[in-house]
Amino acid sequence: ELSFIHRFEPASDPSRPPLLLLHGTGGDENDLLGLGRTISPGSALLSPRGKILENGMPRFFRRLAEGVFDEADVKFRANELADFVAEARKAYGLKAPVAVGFSNGANIAAAMLMLRPESLSGAALLRAMVPLSETPKVDLAGKRVLMTSGALDPIIPADNAKRLAASLREAGAEVQHHMLPTGHNLSQTDLQLLVKWFAEQG
Ligand code: MLT
Repeated sequence: ELSFIHRFEPASDPSRPPLLLLHGTGGDENDLLGLGRTISPGSALLSPRGKILENGMPRFFRRLAEGVFDEADVKFRANELADFVAEARKAYGLKAPVAVGFSNGANIAAAMLMLRPESLSGAALLRAMVPLSETPKVDLAGKRVLMTSGALDPIIPADNAKRLAASLREAGAEVQHHMLPTGHNLSQTDLQLLVKWFAEQG
């Protein structure tokens, strides 16, 4: 028994990187499977359900208010999820996955990059914000990160997203950050950027 409720779909094209799909608040392990198939056809898909419940809505870590995180829990949960990834890699025979996270799922993926960089080979962070007030010292050389943010996002101030991009870049990640003329929800442009970024993945 693995430590998270999850869905797994084996690769139909083993040359494609495995994806770790991380849903937003109120989502579950089924939400992003369709997105995963679209943006990286043939990839293995590993999709856990967040263990925190906020008024019945699954999430990946606790928050005190919208945009105000319980940082001790962010750290605990990022480590717990990285441990799950290690278990799942063994059980299913996977290389380190590329995280694809939306909103709360993007935030936990950013925390995993900072705290357990070995657990991910890269990440697509859709509507992410700075997960920890102090960025730990970490080496992200060789990791590709795609970030898409909404300039009109009511939850995430644009400069918060820019600060996250800057700190990932400072740690050595190869970051592509797109500020789109949209809000918190994903747009057609997000999809196009994801498809292109995955197609360029070596
Ligand atoms: C979070 O709690 O991670 C962010 O506020 C995004 C969200 O899930 O609404």
